[in-house]
Amino acid sequence: MQLQNKKILLGISGGIAAYKTPDLVRKLTAQGATVRVVVTASAKEFVSPLSLQAVSGHIVHDSLLDPAAEAAMGHIELAKWADILLLAPATANLLAKLTVGLADDLLTTLCLATRAPLVIAPAMNQQMWQAAATQQNMSVLTARGIDFIGPASGAQACGDTGYGRMSEPEDIVEHLCKCTAAKTLPDLSATRVLITAGPTQEALDPVRYISNHSSGKMGYALAHAAQQAGAEVVLISGPTTLNVSPGITKIDVVSAEQMHNAVMGQIQQCDIFIATAAVADYRASSVADNKIKKKDEELTLTFVKNPDILKTVANLPSPPFTVGFAAESQNVEHYARSKLHNKKLNMIAANNISTAGLGFNSDHNALHVIWPDGEQHLPAQPKVQLAGELLSVVATQFKKKTSK
Ligand code: PMT
Repeated sequence: MQLQNKKILLGISGGIAAYKTPDLVRKLTAQGATVRVVVTASAKEFVSPLSLQAVSGHIVHDSLLDPAAEAAMGHIELAKWADILLLAPATANLLAKLTVGLADDLLTTLCLATRAPLVIAPAMNQQMWQAAATQQNMSVLTARGIDFIGPASGAQACGDTGYGRMSEPEDIVEHLCKCTAAKTLPDLSATRVLITAGPTQEALDPVRYISNHSSGKMGYALAHAAQQAGAEVVLISGPTTLNVSPGITKIDVVSAEQMHNAVMGQIQQCDIFIATAAVADYRASSVADNKIKKKDEELTLTFVKNPDILKTVANLPSPPFTVGFAAESQNVEHYARSKLHNKKLNMIAANNISTAGLGFNSDHNALHVIWPDGEQHLPAQPKVQLAGELLSVVATQFKKKTSK
């Protein structure tokens, strides 16, 4: 009964996966949750409100302008009632509406009116899932701290195969159980946190650069978690497509040198420095003024070392509590411990980037967090959730150090 006393508002939009929602409601209630259901007009084409009423034990809400329903439990009351707003299945259309903040029916109005965390289980045709607009909407929603589960990959009702299937009800329930069991955020009020995120781009000529696959998701998730924990947050970001919530100060940079200068400009005012960015170790020794022309069979470029931002910060006369990341594909713990020691860090978070689906440019990650006299494994989970867990570990060690 891991969802005992949890009030879950289930929002169902119009996709074929809606037929699984009575089973989802039964599984949620079996874990002790109280479930109330809201359906969109098109969801009713796929699942009967009467079935949902029977399994949830509550009248199903479907209209913003129904005086009888409003008199029983008004939409603002419903928005305030929920501990979690779960959208399953969430169509591409619903994701697009959430991204721009449309409130043209009961469900989208509730999404704006609630303070409850949103958990979204998308479901749509695989091509619609891959569409640039859907992916961009996902990035915006993820950057707002919204938690996604799935979609899963497999055969689809339309005959296609690929990502777009709604996660199975048991996986959604398990995910909610884990989320609600996750530690609450630490109190970081009156703490200034500086975070680097994303890749750097090192120019070769006016049109080319070298870079890496960092999306910035890990760093942005940490910035949002730190802000929610009450910290004053400055995020120094390489080029990404992500947005930050109002209240986080974001400084955009492109190259490692620019990131270094931006960090040095902020470091005196910060208590905790977390370096999630995937900074290029080298840059071209000179950037060509004009586009490099294709002439010979081979092209040789020379590179020079970039400043090591993390090491510079950790070796300042009065450094902040300094946390590094280590992305490693082999001997993960060994290399991470070497970095912790050689760079004189307070803590390092190691990711094993050889695990498929974790690390670079993924929504999920797992970390082995190591500090001089301790360590903790944070298992694979959405980066949005992992960020909160990492922050709890950081806050505990930071407070121990500053109380000495
Ligand atoms: O951005 P995402 O797609 O969400 O992916 C997240 C991530 C995989 C990029 C992130 O979790 C991660 O592991 N970041 C560090 C990646 C890395 O480049 O590690 P590194 O071993 O090269 O660097 C070690 C540490 O030194 C890092 O904290 C890095 O920010 C820092 N560094 C490195 C080089 C340099 N010149 N300056 C630095 O500050």
